[in-house]
Amino acid sequence: MDLISLYPTWYEPTVGSGWVVALIATFHVLASHTSVGAAMLFAYLSHKAYREDREDLLDFVKKYGLFLLVFTYVAGSITGPGIWYSTTVASPNGIGALIHSFVWKWATEWVFFVIEVVGVYMIVYLVGRVDKRTHMKISVIFGMASLATMLIIVGILSFMMVPGKEQWFADGGYLNGFYGTNTFAQLGMRMAFMFTMTAVVGGIVIAGIKDPAFKKEMARKLGWLGIISTLIGASMFQWYLTSVPDQALLVMENRLPDYFQSSIMIVLAGTLAYFIITMLRPQMIVQGFAGAMTIIILVAGLWPEETARESMRKPWVAGQYVYSNQVIGKDVPGMDIKSQLPTIEKVGILQAHPFTPDHLKEVNDGNKIQAGEFIAMTYCSNCHSPSETGIRPLHRYFPEGVSQERVAQYVKGVLTTGNIAYMPKMPMLDSEAEALAAYLVLNNDGGQAAVTAAIDTEIEQRERALAEQKAQDTVAAVDLQEGK
Ligand code: HEC
Repeated sequence: MDLISLYPTWYEPTVGSGWVVALIATFHVLASHTSVGAAMLFAYLSHKAYREDREDLLDFVKKYGLFLLVFTYVAGSITGPGIWYSTTVASPNGIGALIHSFVWKWATEWVFFVIEVVGVYMIVYLVGRVDKRTHMKISVIFGMASLATMLIIVGILSFMMVPGKEQWFADGGYLNGFYGTNTFAQLGMRMAFMFTMTAVVGGIVIAGIKDPAFKKEMARKLGWLGIISTLIGASMFQWYLTSVPDQALLVMENRLPDYFQSSIMIVLAGTLAYFIITMLRPQMIVQGFAGAMTIIILVAGLWPEETARESMRKPWVAGQYVYSNQVIGKDVPGMDIKSQLPTIEKVGILQAHPFTPDHLKEVNDGNKIQAGEFIAMTYCSNCHSPSETGIRPLHRYFPEGVSQERVAQYVKGVLTTGNIAYMPKMPMLDSEAEALAAYLVLNNDGGQAAVTAAIDTEIEQRERALAEQKAQDTVAAVDLQEGK
């Protein structure tokens, strides 16, 4: 049997499965980066509190810690498993690739994460109950454990864009996959921006400080932290761009909206302006303003960054060998992984997919649209929604009234050959390409309603044929019994 490791497709019609993952991940990045940055800030402030014997600094740590505990740790702990659940169904082979390479790295991260969670409780609840020196030690351990979680996860995230070293493809070895220029550039960028987030979210805590002098001091401290980290982060981003594969830059230049670069610049300038204003006029920091800034950074800064990283990876979802549509498109001798393209080329996608319903395994006149829909779901829906809404809706890419011959030509000439850099190579038998073309044209002209109607007709016809067959069989059986 020529079956490959594909799973049922999770299709989310309104926004697309990719966006569900992206939404959860963006919240997670805000929560996790803020906590790691804050952990380092706490270590510094506790150290200063111990050296200069200051209660107010510890009080600030306690308040910020409590805020983290209630918001970012809860949000982080919900969205973390959320990423696992959503990516497992949206991208089972992608997540599988990461697990096969990095399961022990993840296990290690969880150990540090447990220390982090216990640490934040200790920091908040032990203020004033232990001496300042002990509190400082706890803060330092908390800070280092938090940083360790970041160090580990960034290696895995950067592997998604590209394995650390080219050598990994030939030899495997998790360090080869883990460390590369991209890992360090991304680490630098994330660490810088995590301090930016810590400074912005810290504004919410500063807003609650009563003593004007102390409020001013903290606004200055966090303001400088924010300004310096934003500037470093921006330069790290430039470094990061030099470390991604050429193909990713190509996709970025051609496929990201024109306003992308300028909008990032505006967000950076806005963030800097915010810090300067709050340093000059700390009394302006009220909860509403600081809270709004947090949301603006989340929506205008993080979301474009995370979605850009995701688009730039196209057509791959992990390690430059698992396509976004879950097909493994490249040999990786170092991991004993074989490309699935030859199998699909040989038997077709319908035969190769283990979850194709029996009556769709072969295309015929009675199942063309259903088979076409199944192929579109399998091959395209991770990147293109077949419905009117969602991610890159398919109908937008074909002109109105396009002929079936034209679409079939495009499918055979471009999609099955992998001639477009940002789309996977998607082999199909001629009959499958025809079925996909028939479905695409129907979807293009009449939308989902036309597709559903056509599929209903196909099912009806099949049921009628089955019923007729059964009736004939019965007649034959009766004839046989009666000895005719
Ligand atoms: C890995 C993700 C991915 C998959 C899978 C994918 N596409 Fe695309 N496709 C893209 C991207 C990205 C674009 C560029 C469109 C844009 O940026 O607006 C694109 C563009 C297109 C275009 C416009 C032609 C062009 O030259 O830009 C068509 C038509 C198209 N896709 C059809 C399909 C069909 C049909 C399938 C399934 C058989 C499919 N795609 C699978 C990512 C994908």
